Amino acid sequence: MASVQVLTATSVPTYTTSLRVEEPLVKYRQIHPTFGAEATADFSQITQDLVDEIKRGLAKYGVLVFRKTGLDDARHVEMSHLFGDLDDIAPFVNGLGQKNRLSSDYLFDVGNVNPDNTVMQPGGMRDLLLRCNYHFHADSAFNPRRAGVSLLLAHELPPEELGGDTEFADTRSAYESLSPERKEEINDWVVMNSQLQCRRNANTDENGVINPLLATDEFDPMKHRFGKHKLPRIAAHAHHVQGMDVDEGQKKLKELLEYVDNPKFTFRVKWQDPGDLVVWDNTCVLHRAIPGGYAGKYKRDLRRTTVHDMGPQAWGLNEVGATWRSGLD
Ligand SMILES: [Fe+2]
Repeated sequence: MASVQVLTATSVPTYTTSLRVEEPLVKYRQIHPTFGAEATADFSQITQDLVDEIKRGLAKYGVLVFRKTGLDDARHVEMSHLFGDLDDIAPFVNGLGQKNRLSSDYLFDVGNVNPDNTVMQPGGMRDLLLRCNYHFHADSAFNPRRAGVSLLLAHELPPEELGGDTEFADTRSAYESLSPERKEEINDWVVMNSQLQCRRNANTDENGVINPLLATDEFDPMKHRFGKHKLPRIAAHAHHVQGMDVDEGQKKLKELLEYVDNPKFTFRVKWQDPGDLVVWDNTCVLHRAIPGGYAGKYKRDLRRTTVHDMGPQAWGLNEVGATWRSGLD
């Protein structure tokens, strides 16, 4: 019979000096084989150290999903400032006379709540414009300075079974999976991005007929300025490729978008509770909202802060320092 060593109080080694084990500021659990993580952190203390760790997590995973953070508008904005320069909606409020129902111009209202706090009804102009969000895109690719990190916070959610997920696509691994020839072909493409392109496409029927409300010059991408950026961050705002026949460029861009729209490169986040926060890096992932049966019935109140890209590619091929915004020029 094998003997079993019994550790008694006297045989257990003791340490006279205590080893202090630092708790990590953020813990991660990977979601998809190539990207994305469910992450946990204590948001009661918002510090630069915490934000720096989230940035490190983003560099690795591209998308981080935090549950029940307890953040409100003010702390959402406060934390976002620690990521870098923030984009703001003031040009849209001032330029289009839109009413901002939220407390800060740093909060982008991407939910379906009207300024009078009622649920937005399908078919109105705001609904038509927000349909663009159902297509894979990177935030602000249409502006001269592109977005880096986006932080999307849930305030009120529809019943889970009625949809409204957010889906992400890993453009880093999609790009890496391309053949050397294909990479060579697309590397130097300068893509002409327009917010209007996405808005029109999202409201074009199967016969190519644009909703008459958007078939005006006001919504014609060719009558406005484009945000010019290199290809690997484009998607639904991409109108055409500089120097290439417009139709041919659009066909090739569509092929690439269809290539990335594959479970090999994508996963969906189910929003569960108010306070859920999803943070992503627009320079390496695309995202889109998934429509659902909640539309017109339940609020899906999500608010986003958008951090400008702080890196050397931020301005793409646009004039550094330009302040115009796509659709307002
Ligand atoms: Fe977006």
